[in-house]
Amino acid sequence: MTELLKVTVDGREVEVPRGTGLVETADAAGIEIPVFCYEPRLGPPVGACRMCLVEIEGLPKLQAACTLTAQDGMVIKTAATSAKAAEGQNATLEFILVNHPLDCPVCDKGGECPLQDLTFRYGPGATRMTFPKVTFDKPIPISPLIALDRERCILCYRCTRFSQDVAEDGQLVARNRGNHSMITTFGEDPYRAPFSGNVVELCPVGALTSTQYRFEARPWEIQQIPTVCGLCPVGCNTSVTTRDGKAKRVLSRNHPEIDGGWLCDKGRYTLPHLAATDRIREPLRRLQRVGLEPISWDDALDEAEKLLRGAEGRIVTALSGSETIEQAYALGRLLRGGLGAHSAVLPESTSSALDAFRLPLSGIAAAEIVVVVGDDEVVDRAPIVDLWLRKAQRNGTEVISYGPSSEAGSAMAALHDLTEPDSALGKRLRASDRAILIWCGPGGGGGARVAEAAHSLSFDDKPGCGAFHLPATPNGRGVAIAWAAAADEDETDPEPIGLLVVVGDDAAASPSVRALAERAEAVIAVTMFQGLAGGWADLVLPATAALERDGTLLNIEGRLQRLRRAVVPPVPDELAWIAKLAGRFDVDLSPHSSVLFEEISARCFDGATAADHATLPARTPYEAPAPAQAVATAVPPRPAEDHFLGQLRLVRYRPLFSGPQVERVAELQFQRPGAELELATADAEKRQIAAGDTVLVRSNGTSVELRARINRKLAAGVVRVPDEHAADLHPTVEVVKP
Ligand code: SF4
Ligand code: SF4
Ligand code: FES
Repeated sequence: MTELLKVTVDGREVEVPRGTGLVETADAAGIEIPVFCYEPRLGPPVGACRMCLVEIEGLPKLQAACTLTAQDGMVIKTAATSAKAAEGQNATLEFILVNHPLDCPVCDKGGECPLQDLTFRYGPGATRMTFPKVTFDKPIPISPLIALDRERCILCYRCTRFSQDVAEDGQLVARNRGNHSMITTFGEDPYRAPFSGNVVELCPVGALTSTQYRFEARPWEIQQIPTVCGLCPVGCNTSVTTRDGKAKRVLSRNHPEIDGGWLCDKGRYTLPHLAATDRIREPLRRLQRVGLEPISWDDALDEAEKLLRGAEGRIVTALSGSETIEQAYALGRLLRGGLGAHSAVLPESTSSALDAFRLPLSGIAAAEIVVVVGDDEVVDRAPIVDLWLRKAQRNGTEVISYGPSSEAGSAMAALHDLTEPDSALGKRLRASDRAILIWCGPGGGGGARVAEAAHSLSFDDKPGCGAFHLPATPNGRGVAIAWAAAADEDETDPEPIGLLVVVGDDAAASPSVRALAERAEAVIAVTMFQGLAGGWADLVLPATAALERDGTLLNIEGRLQRLRRAVVPPVPDELAWIAKLAGRFDVDLSPHSSVLFEEISARCFDGATAADHATLPARTPYEAPAPAQAVATAVPPRPAEDHFLGQLRLVRYRPLFSGPQVERVAELQFQRPGAELELATADAEKRQIAAGDTVLVRSNGTSVELRARINRKLAAGVVRVPDEHAADLHPTVEVVKP
């Protein structure tokens, strides 16, 4: 049992568990101790700003409360009851403001600034400074996303601690000392890291600002819309700041079990894609020899009806996996229920088997041992999981990764080996009460294979043990469930394809969907961007972005989350026109997501309601997949040529900063990997290739020129190339210097 300690704060007695910090102790007594540098999510306190000075009975000098923990019988006096503490705090604020400009009226942080607020509440009423304050050239670019107004920095080190101790990218540092200290990166390099934007949110003054939000709005003009990020399967909780109906920035809304209060830069900075220059705002129809011409919505629905009827049931739908559950269900009801047998191309396979091993993502940080298996990097599929893994390692968790090896299918083999009775690691996993398996790669039956492994490792009855599958799409599982719930008929693969319905930008950008379109007699594309639809669709219907939708998403943990419309889209909501079109086929469909969700929830989610911060549903008993869906466990054979003969296995990956939305945000381009390939140190040495060299990657008569990057963690025999630069390459390649 946790030992409780009695502490008195400003005369109020309170009991707190041993180990509680004094800031939290005062908080428990209903008393605020002001802070700047203190932020428990950044790790141990550094006591840099001295804003939290308090008087503690028995100690001669004022103490920084954030650096101390409660002791039994401790008597604390804050500035509210101690003249000495008040004087100390006054002096601290006066000192902080020696060089801090009083430019709140023009500062981006003004109105939501802790320094402004605390100065107002705790600081001296007037200034004694009569000399000019320090000024610097400004703003200093930290990256295309972040600007520094150096004279405003109060050197609390929140930003550098985040970079060094949370994201562990080690790129942000404080250079020089005292008055000359400045926050900067090494050399001339920009702060290029997946989580850089968190430092803007952490900065307690207007020193670090977002270049996208700078001078865009004042706090009294804005609204905050609570919603979730729909760009990856984590589903971080966010607040979207809007002004005059336009989305201006994305902030974290700290869900301690999902995101711990952090966002990745993709979720934070892709807003400008809503106003992309090639955004489609009205339906488009293909005219012979003329190209696409804009048409009215009535004409578009007529055209869609004509194409749907003309296909006579030979329809294939390609979904992106970023649709809401309600959108997928409504489309399924229209296309499957209304038009007969019909097949869908779902973006990835999914499985409910992992529901037996559910854990909140925060469970990773409390694990004893975590095994990550798969060809992909965690950060590319589910960025925040990367931060949880780093936190776990700092907490002493052993994290073991099986990345790609020269043998195709080796990740699956590694998972298989773990479950063998004589596997040493398997024995440790079986013995542990806090072991976690994470599958991070293609295949794996949408998590069914990792669930099978977790079951054979006896994770079933251990609440601290769990398993995760990191999907490649934001809501692939929710979409698959909703699509399946929409109709009872079995699906068939029509040949020839009468009509291909392409839904969403990822499907429209997918080479395999484009290949399917070549076999289709007609194509309807529902997409946001003209660049994705021109040239191949017969009818283009404008799509909305995630932040323009109301609906439900199912995240990586199997948690339903409510996506709230932050801004009104410039085009009609999908549910509205799907319902209208459905009416023409006598399918009764509501245009309201709440009504649709009720229908789906009764069938698929035990009548759950998608409330914010929805609790994680209880685990379900493990069920082995039915034989028809059983996941192949066989280890694929070795490729014909192996790397000793000069051939390397090509692993394509989809970088975090890629995709149609990211491509349309100018400030994010520096985050995208260029035309490069990653080589293992041994393979680079064997070929006398140095980092930065231009190399030729050849396979079966195709060759691409890429820049070499040496990845010390990569196994020999493997090269990694971003998807967009590996288009025509085969699974085994030769890498040579030109
Ligand atoms: S830039 Fe902001 S977060 Fe970083 S040290 Fe200065 S005040 Fe603190
Ligand atoms: S980690 Fe995923 S859900 Fe979270 S902000 Fe990034 S893209 Fe969005
Ligand atoms: S908040 Fe305690 S020293 Fe900064």
